[in-house]
Amino acid sequence: MVEAAGVDQTSREHALKALAAQAGLLPQGQDSADFRKRLDRHFPDLHRLFHTLYGTRPDFQDQLTSLVLQTARSWNDRPAELKALDAEREHNSGWFLDNSMLGGVCYVDRYAEDLEGIRARIPYFKELGLTYLHLMPLFLAPEPHSDGGYAVSSYRQVNPTLGTMEQLRELAAELRSNGISLVVDFIFNHTSDEHDWARRAAAGDPEYSDYYWIYPDRTMPDSFEQNVREIFPENHPGSFIRMEDGRWVWATFHTYQWDLNYSNPDVFRAMAGEMLFLANQGVDILRMDAVAFIWKQLGTPCENLPEAHTLLQAFNAVCRLAAPSLLFKSEAIVHPDEVALYIDPAECQLSYNPLQMALIWEAMATRDVALLSQALERRHNIPEGTSWVNYVRSHDDIGWTFADEDAAELGINGFDHRRFLNSFYVNRFPGSFARGVPFQDNPRTGDCRISGTTASLCGLEDGTGQAIDRILLAHSVIFSTGGIPLLYLGDEVGQLNDYGYALEEGHGADSRWVHRPHYPAERYAKRHEPGTPEAAVFEGLRTMISVRSATPEFAGTRLVHFDTNNPGVLGYQRPGEGTHILVLANFSDGNQTVTAQTLSGFAAGAVDLLTGNPVRIEGGVVLRPQEFRWLRVTPDRG
Ligand code: GLC
Ligand code: GLC
Repeated sequence: MVEAAGVDQTSREHALKALAAQAGLLPQGQDSADFRKRLDRHFPDLHRLFHTLYGTRPDFQDQLTSLVLQTARSWNDRPAELKALDAEREHNSGWFLDNSMLGGVCYVDRYAEDLEGIRARIPYFKELGLTYLHLMPLFLAPEPHSDGGYAVSSYRQVNPTLGTMEQLRELAAELRSNGISLVVDFIFNHTSDEHDWARRAAAGDPEYSDYYWIYPDRTMPDSFEQNVREIFPENHPGSFIRMEDGRWVWATFHTYQWDLNYSNPDVFRAMAGEMLFLANQGVDILRMDAVAFIWKQLGTPCENLPEAHTLLQAFNAVCRLAAPSLLFKSEAIVHPDEVALYIDPAECQLSYNPLQMALIWEAMATRDVALLSQALERRHNIPEGTSWVNYVRSHDDIGWTFADEDAAELGINGFDHRRFLNSFYVNRFPGSFARGVPFQDNPRTGDCRISGTTASLCGLEDGTGQAIDRILLAHSVIFSTGGIPLLYLGDEVGQLNDYGYALEEGHGADSRWVHRPHYPAERYAKRHEPGTPEAAVFEGLRTMISVRSATPEFAGTRLVHFDTNNPGVLGYQRPGEGTHILVLANFSDGNQTVTAQTLSGFAAGAVDLLTGNPVRIEGGVVLRPQEFRWLRVTPDRG
């Protein structure tokens, strides 16, 4: 221990000396004092993390020193208004836990043509109540094959069809002044094969070949592939693809997305530079793409390795020095035990909640809340100072990522249940209301996932009544369990599947495009027209949004289990001071009662928050099919 502290001390001195030598480049006055204060506070962490990853390399010390210099320079370049925001958020570090938080996500081109178009939609975002806007990847990318922008050719250039970096900066500022935080992706597991680094690697440059996992023949690829899962089997088998010169390069996703080699500290430093560049454009939250895959180790599945966490923590420590208010959101669509491991104030403060998402659909298909209820009881509560991002569906497919061992406790066989869910959602199961499309159907493993918009999966293509109730029911969960609710923009007016994707260049082979339609202008135009399905969905969501932001019990993520003693009715409590919110939601197709006995722990008088009316619950509560109630109750201590 003593020795480790000694090493730390020497490294720090080394870094400080290098900083002093570059005094001209570095922060001055108060700014410099602020930076030094943060360096004092966070250097030990950065050192420890960087040492865990790269400590055995002879150039470790120089690498670390260069990294610290890079953070100092980046702080120096950080615009004053962002430094002011850093200071403000230092005193209000839980800002993202507020019950008024509401997220929206969209593709810039599909939703609004370009960045200017997004800017023009700010009044609508305010009407809706957004405080968080995730713009799907908007960087330079190969066309027409870019995986929806998830193959990045330059992190410093906006895709010219969408606008410029300057426009992105201006947009960030304008959103900020309207109370909306900007979220963009940090696609750091891979670059496109057109990125300058990839081009140089392809040309045989040894320095850049080391930026990727490139091998001269099949020996290493064959060894790795023994333990690695196929992510896009319809695109290519295994994890490696052949380069033009005959070498093999790691490509977890599509052939044109090459995985970066983080065992090389040059890659860490280069990507830290790209990350800080984005932070200084005014981005508030980075969505950390594909976090599970960022570290590889022969003989392992190369997913969720301990070093993946160390790496994220090291990136986080870099932010604490140079962009202190920046937050990370983890995109780990994996086993729920593994999802939870990324969530920590020192790692990713936010995380998608893929388990809740999948189980909302599961409960809707089975009309039974057992799995969803178990997940809320057992897997919802996360560390203080962190939050879920809860969603009904995203731009990606729905994968059935529940834990087989959780299901087994309820007598459910995971494999069979996933088969049932897949056939239900692609409408191959008798009585199904859903109009989904299979994604990455893998006959070899039996694996398959589901594409489709919320409304199409809820049955709106076939009729309105129950479909609208299902859409609202699904959203009622993401609005009330705790965490930031994230709307896929257009779903709030019930947008349907876009089957035209099959003819679009570069999209036909990827069914996720079925649920990424263009801005549904006609549907939006009807959102205030009484009697239309658009208005029914929009008004229903608007009510939930305004009630949520007026209900302090909905802040944060803490949830207390509540057993409704009825397999069709989901229940949970959101504790407040003195009062709780009791949520009841009927996933079945019949009327359901939550009995007087079940509710006997609460005082008789309650308030129905969605209607604003006082109600009495001592005689039990009856819910219509798909009905949900948000009740402010008082635990009865008498
Ligand atoms: C993420 C994205 C997905 C993309 C993949 C590869 O999972 O959400 O759309 O295909 O990463 O970048
Ligand atoms: C896999 C990956 C996930 C990615 C998705 C894309 O599920 O685990 O990261 O988003 O594929 O469809």
